[in-house]
Amino acid sequence: MTKAGLFITFEGIDGSGKSTQARLLADDLRSSGHDVILTREPGGSPGAEEIRALVLEGATDRWSPETEILLFTAARRDHLERVINPALARGQIVICDRFADSTRMYQGLSRGDLRAMVDQLHRLMIAKEPDLTLLIDMEPGLGLDRALSRKGSEERFEEFGEDLQKRMRAGFLDLAAEFPERFRVIDGAREIEAVARDVRDIVLDKLVQS
Ligand code: ADP
Ligand code: TYD
Repeated sequence: MTKAGLFITFEGIDGSGKSTQARLLADDLRSSGHDVILTREPGGSPGAEEIRALVLEGATDRWSPETEILLFTAARRDHLERVINPALARGQIVICDRFADSTRMYQGLSRGDLRAMVDQLHRLMIAKEPDLTLLIDMEPGLGLDRALSRKGSEERFEEFGEDLQKRMRAGFLDLAAEFPERFRVIDGAREIEAVARDVRDIVLDKLVQS
């Protein structure tokens, strides 16, 4: 492991298996002696977890699109300052379930084309990209079935339904093509263990290089 740490993110549509794979990867790396922090967005720090409740609960039109971008970015800034950057500076591996690519997709595409605004705010307030982004890709019907089967109160986005998830899937694949140096696309429509093997191979490869 490099002294500067390694920043790995998982991305993909709701229910694609990101949390499951992030947890398995963290366990696997820890059992081979790596120092790992497993975290998530929105949230990951006490302040950002409070913002999480504001953005994920309540009516779909609770926030204007612009306010929503500000809230997700505020949560990310706190998470970055208090958790991600300090961990990377200590040389830890940071595994994060969603990061800025989710804002590029959900806030950038779901309610009009606001990608330029998302990117501007990102440059100003975050200015950090992962070393490696694992996109768990699958057909949206499958992800939505899985996501809805664990029904909870955080449903503002899941309730947008399959049409939005289709656009998100296509958007994530476009994003992978836009940033090919850090993105790897993994077929998520397989058994958990098969997906986990691909994840592990890609990460071990990256650790050897860095
Ligand atoms: P995400 O974090 O992308 O929303 P989760 O990891 O929470 O996805 O998975 C959503 C649901 O699907 C969970 O109930 C999980 O146990 C299940 N799941 C995850 N990966 C698979 C898989 N490869 N095959 C079948 N079910 C899965
Ligand atoms: P998450 O808990 O990862 O949901 P899931 O496990 O269903 O994938 O994220 C909750 C929701 O927040 C998800 O629908 C995507 C949305 N989201 C954004 O809209 N913008 C963001 O920047 C992030 C990080 C998440």
